[in-house]
Amino acid sequence: MAKLRIAVIGLGRIGKMHLKNLMILPDQFQVVGIADPTEENLQAVVDQYHLPYYSADYHELLQKDDVDCVLIASATDTHAQIIKDAARAGKDIFCEKPLDTDVARIKSLLAIVDECGVKLQVGFNRRFDHNFWRIHQCVTDGSLGTPQIIKISSRDPEPPSLEYVKRSGGLFFDMMIHDLDLIRYLSNSEVEEVTAKGAVLVNPQIGELGDIDTAIVTLKFSNGALGVIDNSRQAVYGYDQRAEVFGNKGMAKADNDRNSTVELDLKDASKLDKMPYFFIDRYQQAYLSELTAFHNSIVNDESVMASGNDGLRAVQLALACQKSLETGQSVKIVY
Ligand SMILES: NC(=O)c1ccc[n+]([C@@H]2O[C@H](COP(=O)([O-])OP(=O)(O)OC[C@H]3O[C@@H](n4cnc5c(N)ncnc54)[C@H](O)[C@@H]3O)[C@@H](O)[C@H]2O)c1
Repeated sequence: MAKLRIAVIGLGRIGKMHLKNLMILPDQFQVVGIADPTEENLQAVVDQYHLPYYSADYHELLQKDDVDCVLIASATDTHAQIIKDAARAGKDIFCEKPLDTDVARIKSLLAIVDECGVKLQVGFNRRFDHNFWRIHQCVTDGSLGTPQIIKISSRDPEPPSLEYVKRSGGLFFDMMIHDLDLIRYLSNSEVEEVTAKGAVLVNPQIGELGDIDTAIVTLKFSNGALGVIDNSRQAVYGYDQRAEVFGNKGMAKADNDRNSTVELDLKDASKLDKMPYFFIDRYQQAYLSELTAFHNSIVNDESVMASGNDGLRAVQLALACQKSLETGQSVKIVY
């Protein structure tokens, strides 16, 4: 199996996690470099992992012949430019979600990726989760019949920093983007119309930045099904991640993963184990699987499982949600 030499661009919360995961996939990847403009941060990581190349400027890594591919985990507003530069340098690309928040910019970067003939996989890790993959399989093999109702609840245990919120693109682009992709994946259908409601119920400072921290979106699909997604930036009990597909032959639902499946029954109460606190714990298996899938798609020259087009579709839906929130009207999706 060919080992790919990879550089990680952006070493914040998720970049560091991906770096650690790449290190535990030594048959598939060799990390050869990292780039992040925060010097102090970089030096600590380089010392820890003894990496050959590092730079504050990612362009330097793109010039290296012994970099086969890149993993982009920098701030959202840098993704489009880095993707274009990496594609032009002939590197295969794994990029965190969202690709960008602007449809024209995404279409332009997809054209460049296409022209350069490199792979582009988007970090929609939930497609690789064991539970959600199983529901997708039940829809695909027809066990549930025709999907009629699809429900996703997705709630974070705590809001991100205000600094992060400022560069995130807002709740629909930063948080619900995962659920907008997942609901397409679970339904095997395109969304035709969305209606969004939003509120600031967690932190007024998020509202002062022009964002929301709570949202409910209803969706109509081209196969006739209806869907609903709810998001909150703060669930006091942990990272709440559930999904359900109801069809005319049955229903499949994934409840929260817990640290164990033990049910504890006591004299006055019954208890379940806690759910994992946040995304790094909850989706550890999915984050590893998405990297393995990226590796396989490159070495076997196969399609990626979360494509640039999937990234575009999710952003088109996020834009429609934003418009619906602003106008108070349902919004039809123009693809
Ligand atoms: N798939 C997931 O579950 C998931 C989870 C969290 C974040 N994300 C996405 O990952 C991205 C990063 O999120 P985060 O939480 O790690 O943010 P973060 O703020 O912790 O880290 C971002 C990092 O990017 C670096 N950076 C900024 N400009 C750069 C540039 N030009 N070149 C290289 N590095 C640059 C910053 O210095 C910082 O270290 C965002 O797009 C976010 O939407 C995905």
